[in-house]
Amino acid sequence: MVSREFIQGLPKAELHLHLEGTLEPDLKLELAQKNNVDIGQSTIEEVKASYQFNDLSSFLAVYYPAMNVLQDSEDFYKLAMAYLAKAKENSVRHVEMFFDPQAHTSRGVDFAEMFNGYYRAVTESEERFGISSQLIMCFLRDMSEESALEHYEMARPFFDKIVGIGLDSDERDNPPTKFQKVFEMAKKDGFKLTMHCDIDQKDSIKHIHDVLHVIGVDRIDHGTNIVEDQSLVEYVKEKGIGFTCCPVSNSFVTDDMKGKEMKELLDQGVKITVNSDDPAYFQSYIANDYYELAKKMDLSQEDIVKIAKNSFEISWISEEKRAAYLAEIDAYVEAHK
Ligand code: HPA
Ligand code: ZN
Repeated sequence: MVSREFIQGLPKAELHLHLEGTLEPDLKLELAQKNNVDIGQSTIEEVKASYQFNDLSSFLAVYYPAMNVLQDSEDFYKLAMAYLAKAKENSVRHVEMFFDPQAHTSRGVDFAEMFNGYYRAVTESEERFGISSQLIMCFLRDMSEESALEHYEMARPFFDKIVGIGLDSDERDNPPTKFQKVFEMAKKDGFKLTMHCDIDQKDSIKHIHDVLHVIGVDRIDHGTNIVEDQSLVEYVKEKGIGFTCCPVSNSFVTDDMKGKEMKELLDQGVKITVNSDDPAYFQSYIANDYYELAKKMDLSQEDIVKIAKNSFEISWISEEKRAAYLAEIDAYVEAHK
């Protein structure tokens, strides 16, 4: 089996990462104190003990209230910079980071205050960490399409600083087609599109069908239930549509990391990638996600290298950058022969 060291040093892109999910207990406590927010816990152990979840909705019930500690631009900047430092340790060269504006505006935080903090980290990431970074704005699917449209307009002054539009939060009874209009607008405006198709949802296959054939996404977040429908698998293979899989996250919100599904898709030539999703909550950064999957599925070095290459192949970057990152992987593999 491939070693942890090999994985740790392997150049990779992270494409499924919620900035709000990188809020580590120590920063959460520091910001709670700074901003005078009562989070109900006062030690790291207490914060960790509050991480009791066994499905997507119980996770989200812990996740959203914690965001109260994020108040001003500096807080958002600090959060993103702390993640980028961890990403560097994991040999991440490029990252496309989700943020959830509605989770902040709904508690009175100004859109620009939040956005400017995150974006400042983006502008500094190359020089500080050697990581190129981009932002993907997600809508919360348990809120209305009207709210998504409102936030789309709030983001308009910042359109040139956002690469794509995504959809997250609770999928149950919130199908992709609820947001058809706003995603159509985003596509026309030149954004890349992605949507969460969470694991083992009530209407997983219908939702995967609709994100592909009605919305017309460029990528799918999670989405491994697609193995249940071979015609959909053939479609994503033909179109080169990639999947941002998150094995450790899956093992927290379902009974399994879904490694079998990932390996099956990989073997069929589907562009699957491995990512950390909400690393502070699942206590696993990206190299550990690769390692846990490799261990569980007994992956070869070749499989792991393929996954890392896929991550750059489905990144929303220029062809020049893509070629440079792929060459960096080849050089790394060569040096480890
Ligand atoms: N699914 C849905 N919503 C989320 C997730 C996820 O994996 N992570 C953070 N918000
Ligand atoms: Zn996610």
